[in-house]
This record gives sequence, structure tokens and C-alpha cells, in this order.
Amino acid sequence: MEATKLVLSGKNPETFKGDLLVYCLEQPVKGKVKADHPLIDSWLKSRGRLAEFSAKAGESLILYPEKNKAEEVFQAKRLMLLGLGKSDKKHGSDEHRERFRIAGGHIAGQAIRVKADKIMVCLPDLDGVRAGDVAETMVEGVLLGDYRFLKYKKKDEDDPSYEGLKELRLYSNDPSITVRKNMMAGLRAARAACRARDMANEPGNGWTPASFAAAGRDLAEQYGLQCTILERADMEHLGMGGILAVNQGSAEPPKMVILEYNPPKKTQTLLVVGKGLTFDSGGVSIKPSAGMEDMKYDMCGGAAILGLMQIVGEEMPDVGVVALVPATDNMPSGSALKPGDIITHYSGVTSEVVNTDAEGRLILADALAYGIKKFSPDCVVDVATLTGAVIVGLGHHYTGLLGNNDEVIRRLIKAGERCGEPLWRLPMGPDYSKQIESQVADIKNTGGPGAGTITAAAYLEKFVGETPWAHLDIAGTAWNYTEKSYIPKGPSGVGVRTLIEFVRRWRKTGI
Ligand code: BES
Ligand code: MN
Ligand code: ZN
Repeated sequence: MEATKLVLSGKNPETFKGDLLVYCLEQPVKGKVKADHPLIDSWLKSRGRLAEFSAKAGESLILYPEKNKAEEVFQAKRLMLLGLGKSDKKHGSDEHRERFRIAGGHIAGQAIRVKADKIMVCLPDLDGVRAGDVAETMVEGVLLGDYRFLKYKKKDEDDPSYEGLKELRLYSNDPSITVRKNMMAGLRAARAACRARDMANEPGNGWTPASFAAAGRDLAEQYGLQCTILERADMEHLGMGGILAVNQGSAEPPKMVILEYNPPKKTQTLLVVGKGLTFDSGGVSIKPSAGMEDMKYDMCGGAAILGLMQIVGEEMPDVGVVALVPATDNMPSGSALKPGDIITHYSGVTSEVVNTDAEGRLILADALAYGIKKFSPDCVVDVATLTGAVIVGLGHHYTGLLGNNDEVIRRLIKAGERCGEPLWRLPMGPDYSKQIESQVADIKNTGGPGAGTITAAAYLEKFVGETPWAHLDIAGTAWNYTEKSYIPKGPSGVGVRTLIEFVRRWRKTGI
């Protein structure tokens, strides 16, 4: 899909000649719906055609302005009224932001339905809501909602498929530089999340560890980042026994992608690590066939990290960001890792592999230990589709959050709330860590039936030492995510926007 052109305009929307002109209306607590536009307002007041429109969240109505009628003042092909729902006085700014993302998603849905290429959205001017927030989140909602993955589908000659939005115009009665900046921030965030979705949508044979390496190199070239790829020989030399063990049964060589963004003025360094498991069969501890195809998504953490680095490259924040994506698939074969095998991680810690399907922690352990040793970061955040257990605990609505530093956790929760990607913290501690003690090695890679998400994090904790660290378990939110207008079925791109928000709000004082 071509990139959508984005324009902020202060020009009278009546003169917009495109396919769809959208007005967003609030549902009043009582009485009739009101509109700023006098003609629309009179329609809403009259008992006629629009009187039934109640402006409930997501309710929409499309009109086709006819010639020689009052509505002729609208030059657009279609006029759409979209309900924003009631404005709860208790809404904080994060809830308002989410309202506009959702509205944006509904607009995208209607645009897809009527195959509208060029649309204009009039940004509502609401009490107590910053125009910049509206612009940013409306753009996010529309662009995230307009996402589809059609690469492998044949084009239908008789019914040419809709190519997606070519132009999105926002009308604002405050088209100031600040609003424009916010709008562009929304654009970057949505594009990066869609890029992560593209990677995730690729099947296991379309997106391999080598694809991660190529994507890393492309980003580096485009944004002047530094890219290093550790090959199998490098991993052997460095003693990365975790990723090598997981890769042992595979026909595809493993890669460790390292991307470095160094700000012009060096302040602090954030290390981000993403699980890049391009297909998780479970290995010798093989998964059941039903639903196994979904394990092509086991690289969503790695995709989120590359998405983040795209925005970091564009925005050049004044915190250094180093990204690590350990990439491999997890396959059974004669040479594959076996239950009971003992491996030695990069840090020297030995681990008894009780279950080869608990492979994510094995590759992350090497990446965390290596990244911390090599880059001495001030903070580490990892993102991984790590455990099915997080779905048991939190379903598909919240990302699991664990870590060793209250301030990092607090900031991540805040960032997630601002982005509509909520996170819920789970506890850690010595009682859970005991579950991964092994008789024969320093630790083992599973912790028994209880608290699977926590024991997985307890495993990672062994490799971060004193560094402030947080872990996002996105197994429930990376796909099959909670139903939202701006998250189509398939991979959600979760994590990209939360992490860029976390980076944008980084204070020079650090953690
Ligand atoms: N990639 C899976 C986790 C997963 C499961 C993600 C379901 C999304 C949906 C991970 O590698 C895994 O297999 N974890 C095991 C760990 C267990 C063997 C201790 C799990 O969660 O079952
Ligand atoms: Mn697994
Ligand atoms: Zn996995």
C-alpha cells in the first residue's frame, strides 16, 4: 500500500472535493445532538432525515449531497456524520485520546467500505481536549484502522480492490504548528506500528531471521543508525548457548540484529530487546497442530522493536537507544535441542532445558546479558510473546508487565495508557524464582504449572543484574487483541507506540 499523504488544513471543509468529508459529533447527555456546522445542525434539529442520529460512539451515517439542494454547499462526494459517544466529565486526557483513535478507526472502516481514496476529517473542537491530542490520535486511528495485508492475494480484475487511503486531510480551526507537530507524531507512530504488522503478517517462510537482518540494515541505512548482525560463528565465539541451542534443529541460520541510535548529545542509553522467533513449533516438545500456524507471530516482539527504531531514527530523541533482536525459528529435527539438555548462556549461567517449547527465554537471556555487558544501558526493556499463561491471566486486553524497578514500571504503565495499550503489572520475588531452581544446572527453563508468566520473567531476571529492567509479555495482545475499530484482525503492532511514548517522555535525569 502506498503511503497516505497527510495534510492539515484550515480551509473551509465545504470546498473539499474528495470522496468523504467527516464530521464528528458528541452525544449530548440530554437533548438533541448539536453540530458546529449550521446546516448540519438544522438537519439534526429538524424531524427529517437526520433526527434519528444519536451520535453514539461508532454510529455513522453517510449522505450523498445532491445538486440544487441546500446540501450542495458541500462539494465532497459523500458526507459522513460519526458519533463520538458521550463525553464523560470524568474522562482524563488519555481516555479522550482513545476516543479519537476509536473514531479514527471507524472512519477508516467506512472509507474501506465505500472505497474512498481522499478523505477529510473535521477535527472536533471540544471543551477540555487539546487540539494536538485530537489531531495526533485521530491520525493514529485512521491509519491504524486503514491497515490491510494484501501482499499474497491475487488482484480481482472485475472488482479492483481498494488500495487504501491516498490522502487524509484534517481540518482544524487551529491549524497551528503545535497541532501539526502532534499530527506528524501520530503519523510516525501509526506507520511504524503498521510496519511491525507487515513483518508479523509474513508467514514463517516469508519472514526468516535473515529478513530481520535485512530489515535492520535497511533501517540503519535509511536513518543513519549503526547496524551489526551477529552470525552463528559470532554467537559461537561469544558463547551464546541459548540462541544457538534453540536454532540447533533449524535449516535457517540464527541472527542477532543490533541497531544503535546515538544522539548528537550523549545522555543516557536505553536498551530494548525483542523476541524474534520467526516460527515456534515448540521443537522436540512439539506443540499440538491445532492453531500452530499462529506461531508465525512469535516474532512480534522483534517486529515491535524494529518499528520503534524507525521512529527513533525519524525523531532523534536525546536518549541513546540500542535495539537487539535475537532471531531464529524453533524446529524439531535430529539435531534439535532435547528435553534435559544443559546449555550455557552468554553470561556463563547454565540452564537445564526441561521443555524445548520454553525457547523465548533462552534467546532473550543471551541478548539481555550481552546487551547489558556491551552497552552498559541505564535501563532495559524487553518485549516478547513469551507465555500462553499471560492469556490465562489477563486475556487479550492487557499486556503483562514485570520488572525490577518501580519507576520504569510506572512510566511504562503511563505510556501504555496514553497510547491505548494498557499494561498490568504482575509480581515477582524469591518464591517464584525458587520454581526455576534445577537439580543439575544453575536454573531450569520451566517453573511448573503455576504462574508461568512470572517464572518466565524470573528466568530473564537472572540475566539483567542490577540494571533497571522491565519485561512486556505481549503473547495476549500481539494478535487476537481486544476488539477495537483501529486494530484489524491479525497482528496489532502492540508495543511500538507504547515504547516510543516511553522514549519521548524520557527525562535527561533518567531513571
Ligand atoms: N511462543 C510461546 C508463547 C505463546 C503461547 C504465545 C501462546 C502466544 C500464544 C512460547 O514460546 C511458549 O511456547 N511458551 C510455553 C512455555 C511453557 C512450555 C513453559 C507456554 O506458554 O506454553
Ligand atoms: Mn515456545
Ligand atoms: Zn515462543
